[in-house]
This record gives sequence, structure tokens and C-alpha cells, in this order.
Amino acid sequence: MPMLQTLNIHTTSSPTFPTSLSIVSKGNPVPNTILEVTQLTRQYQVGGRHLTVLHDASFTINEGESVAIIGPSGSGKSTLLGLCAGLDQPTSGNVRLVNQDIARMNEDERAVLRRDKLGFVFQAFQLLPTLTALENVMVPMEMRGKQNTHKLAERATELLNQVGLGERLDHYPVQLSGGEQQRVAIARAFMNDPALLFADEPTGNLDTATGKTIVSLLFDLNEHHGTTLVLVTHDDELASKATRIIRLQAGKIITETNASSSSY
Ligand SMILES: Nc1ncnc2c1ncn2[C@@H]1O[C@H](COP(=O)(O)OP(=O)(O)OP(=O)(O)O)[C@@H](O)[C@H]1O
Ligand SMILES: [Mg+2]
Repeated sequence: MPMLQTLNIHTTSSPTFPTSLSIVSKGNPVPNTILEVTQLTRQYQVGGRHLTVLHDASFTINEGESVAIIGPSGSGKSTLLGLCAGLDQPTSGNVRLVNQDIARMNEDERAVLRRDKLGFVFQAFQLLPTLTALENVMVPMEMRGKQNTHKLAERATELLNQVGLGERLDHYPVQLSGGEQQRVAIARAFMNDPALLFADEPTGNLDTATGKTIVSLLFDLNEHHGTTLVLVTHDDELASKATRIIRLQAGKIITETNASSSSY
């Protein structure tokens, strides 16, 4: 069975957020900003000295865009993604996410924003070890409370089918390969119909065929539902599908280009 023919993961719950596709189709020439990063710097104290791992990064991402962050190992990609997603605090600078200044929000408010609007695929998948694949995928929606568990399980099963794990629903993370865990993490990230999906090397542990499936899944979500994608990747094929590429080197943005005009 092909793992992904069509992306119909949103048929049961329609997203309530406006999509850039609908904005474009209505002829509105001004897209909405969904992420605004201003002079972002992250330093760590290591052995009594300051290490600047991200320096003065600024950019804006509009609703419905797909942006690839690329650069060598250690260049600050995961650091930048964590800051953009409000999972880490900058040393200086500012992040506005879905029109909210995340530095002004308390941890509870940030948690609600994450739960309702964001999806994450972490570089280290961060599955909950005591939950099965199916239960891990259901977690973000269960956190909303008052959910129909049967419907959630149906949707989680559908997502796991789409990433090719229909036969692994009851496996615990320790019983899954690295690539399988990554796919569970991807299914989980889609569960809440995120307005903005952050993914750190989403194809990093996958073989070529499975990687292609995941790339289609991500970009179908982007094209058909207007989900904004911010992806860290070393995968050229994935980066080439993004509308924009931000290239980091030694903690600095060295180029920001439209994917079509870039030769990375
Ligand atoms: N908690 C920390 N304390 C000190 N230095 C850190 C910490 N976390 C990350 N770093 C350093 O920050 C730099 C950037 O790390 P980051 O994880 O953002 O890199 P990356 O571009 O995602 O690399 P990779 O492609 O290997 O995942 C690295 O040099 C790393 O050693
Ligand atoms: Mg990284």
C-alpha cells in the first residue's frame, strides 16, 4: 500500500485559522505575518565565558510560507528553531508568534499557544516512553480536555496509517526504530491542525522512500491547509521545496533567499 496518496488528515476537523491560500485566493495582496524575529541573540555561559551561538538574527515569515533553515552542524539551527517556537528564551531580541510577543507571555499562556496553534517535530523525537505510538499521537489533543476519545483515536490512527505505521499502533517507543519514532513524532505534530509547524530535521532518520513520503505529507499540509512550515534540514530535496531558504553559518544568517533563486 502506498503510504500517502492523498492528504486527507483534516477531513474530520476543519482548521479555524485563516490560511494564506484563502487570503491569496481572495485577492488580498498583503499576507499576514505569523512569525517575526528581531535581532535574536542566544548566548551560553560555558567554562566562565560567553559563547554566542546565535547572533542578531532577524526575519519575518508570512502565513502559508514554507521556510527551510539550513547550515552546517553546530551553526545554530536547532537553537533558532527553539527560540522561534518559544521553547527557549533569547539572551536578547524578540520573537512575535501568531501576533503575540512571547516574551510578554507567562509559561501557561505559551503552553496554550503551543497547544492550539503550533506543531513540533524535534530532532530527538521526544516521545513519551510509557505511551504507545497511538497514545503519543493523541496527547496534544487530549491536553485540550473534553475530547471524544474515540474520535481522537480514529484520527490518530489515520495519521499513523499515513506515515506508514498502521501496524505499529500499540508499540512503545522502545519497540520502534529511529525512523519509526520520527514518523510518530510527525503524526503527533499534525494532530492539532497547527497553524505553524516547526520541524527539526524531519527526514533525518529516514530512508529515501520514507523521507519522500514525509516531505509530501509536510508540503501537502502547507499547500492544502495553509500550514506555515519552518523546517531545519540537511536534505536538499526538502529544502528545494520550500519557498524560502535561510542559511546559517556560525550563528549568523548569511543568506536569505527564495528557494528557486538559491543554489545551496
Ligand atoms: N546548552 C548549551 N550550552 C552550551 N552550548 C550549547 C548549548 N546548546 C547548544 N550549544 C551550542 O550551540 C551551537 C549551536 O547548536 P545547535 O544545536 O543550534 O546546532 P545545529 O545547527 O542545530 O547543529 P546540528 O546540525 O548538529 O543539529 C553548538 O555549537 C552547540 O555546541
Ligand atoms: Mg540541530
